Amino acid sequence: MILSKNSPVTAVMIGAGFRGREVYGRYAEKNPEKLKFIAVAEPDTARRGLFQQAHRIPESLAFESWEPLLSIAKGQLADAAFICTQDNKHYAPAAAALKAGYHLVLEKPISPNLEECQQISRMAGEADRTVHVCHVLRFTEFWQKIRSLVRSGEIGRVMHYDHSENVSYWHFGHSYVRGPYKNEESSSPLILAKSCHDLDLMYWVLDEKPLSVYSTGELSYYRQENAPVSAPDRCTDGCPESETCPWYAPRLYVTAEPLLRIGLHAPARIIRLLSHFALNHRKTLEFLSLFEKRLQGLLNWNQFPATVITTNLSLEGKMKALREGPFGKCIFKCGNDVLDHQITTYTFPSGATGTLTLHGFSDLEGRELRIFGTRGSIRGYFRYNGEQISITDFRYSKTKIVYRAGLSMGGHGGGDFGLMDFFVKKMKGEIPPEEAEAEVDNALEAHYMAFAAEDARTKGQPVMIDHYRH
Ligand SMILES: NC(=O)c1ccc[n+]([C@@H]2O[C@H](COP(=O)([O-])OP(=O)(O)OC[C@H]3O[C@@H](n4cnc5c(N)ncnc54)[C@H](O)[C@@H]3O)[C@@H](O)[C@H]2O)c1
Repeated sequence: MILSKNSPVTAVMIGAGFRGREVYGRYAEKNPEKLKFIAVAEPDTARRGLFQQAHRIPESLAFESWEPLLSIAKGQLADAAFICTQDNKHYAPAAAALKAGYHLVLEKPISPNLEECQQISRMAGEADRTVHVCHVLRFTEFWQKIRSLVRSGEIGRVMHYDHSENVSYWHFGHSYVRGPYKNEESSSPLILAKSCHDLDLMYWVLDEKPLSVYSTGELSYYRQENAPVSAPDRCTDGCPESETCPWYAPRLYVTAEPLLRIGLHAPARIIRLLSHFALNHRKTLEFLSLFEKRLQGLLNWNQFPATVITTNLSLEGKMKALREGPFGKCIFKCGNDVLDHQITTYTFPSGATGTLTLHGFSDLEGRELRIFGTRGSIRGYFRYNGEQISITDFRYSKTKIVYRAGLSMGGHGGGDFGLMDFFVKKMKGEIPPEEAEAEVDNALEAHYMAFAAEDARTKGQPVMIDHYRH
């Protein structure tokens, strides 16, 4: 289906949570000429209401779940359906939307179940519909530059690709210990949930499908036995470790201290002091913020990760969420079972090897890579607080910085909106068909790599990946 260049792509939203509302919803709000949401399905009344309000969706097109919205009887209401439910709730609405004739924007992972991933790919082919999987990092300048450097042959033939996904201590605690991805059963194994992006990049940059994989990892630290003896079940129950514990929830969600440290050019000790003030001497800070407006941000952090814990972003709303919900629990007492560190190695038909290091103990959030070729090497980092790529030629041992970017305010280094721009252009027929970026068939490879890695880890032996591709 090719749409008119002058009218926006129309879409229905399934799951108006963090990604649905805060990422794709925001894109439509900022780019009304490109994308328009005309209906929503979301069981949480507050989230549904916020989405309806932002996109002026009437009650008749707002649903408590996806089934009535995607029913065949209702017919196809828009060009595309956005599937932004949690990992294990992708398959059923995705399959129903394809049957109803929609193109899809489908959050990653396609599904935590291998057969369901393959089934979605088959259904997309049969229905001749685009299924755009949200591997957002392919749409950043940084990763496109890495890929083009490797393809240019400047470092010769690639021998080894070393990729680290350094999840910061606070983000890991938020998502994989307290949050929605803490249990394999209700979500996915860590390598699929967090690193299907990283595996997709390894495959995409090297332009090769791996032959075999071996993986090892543990859940060693975020466990009950590591809780301080005096720690209550919740941070908000007067924890005596509140000053020393990096995961003390009010500091992560009320003042967002780790994020302020990235964004404000002030010494960490000053930020710590201000954060302490914002939590314990609120009235004084409120008074000071009358004179110094920037202090107001400290009083009421209203972005990620606070937006995930509640829709009521007042101090009272956030504290209530911490007192009652999962995000205020002691980090060591969350009933989580996904790994907290894992190493995975791949071998490729060309003889190249690849390693993925994935862990939840980083001070700074971000990815790092080193690519070693026969003529030189590439090094890069892709972090919230800046990005850089350098290249070294063996002949001169000279290192050139070939790309640099500062603090990124766009989600995933600009990849969230980059993916959306690509999708809209694709819907309007402005992308050549051979550019299959993020199409489901292409996105499947990272899923095979993850499923095989997880099997290798649990079996304790290397696994051939081809077996998963059928
Ligand atoms: N592409 C990326 O980089 C990226 C980043 C983070 C998360 N994700 C993925 O995005 C997906 C959503 O993540 P999130 O953080 O927005 O989660 P979320 O929990 O904030 O949002 C999911 C929403 O789905 C709603 N929902 C549940 N059942 C429903 C139903 N029957 N019908 C309609 N809606 C229903 C929930 O109420 C919730 O609001 C996950 O699969 C996650 O892994 C992708």
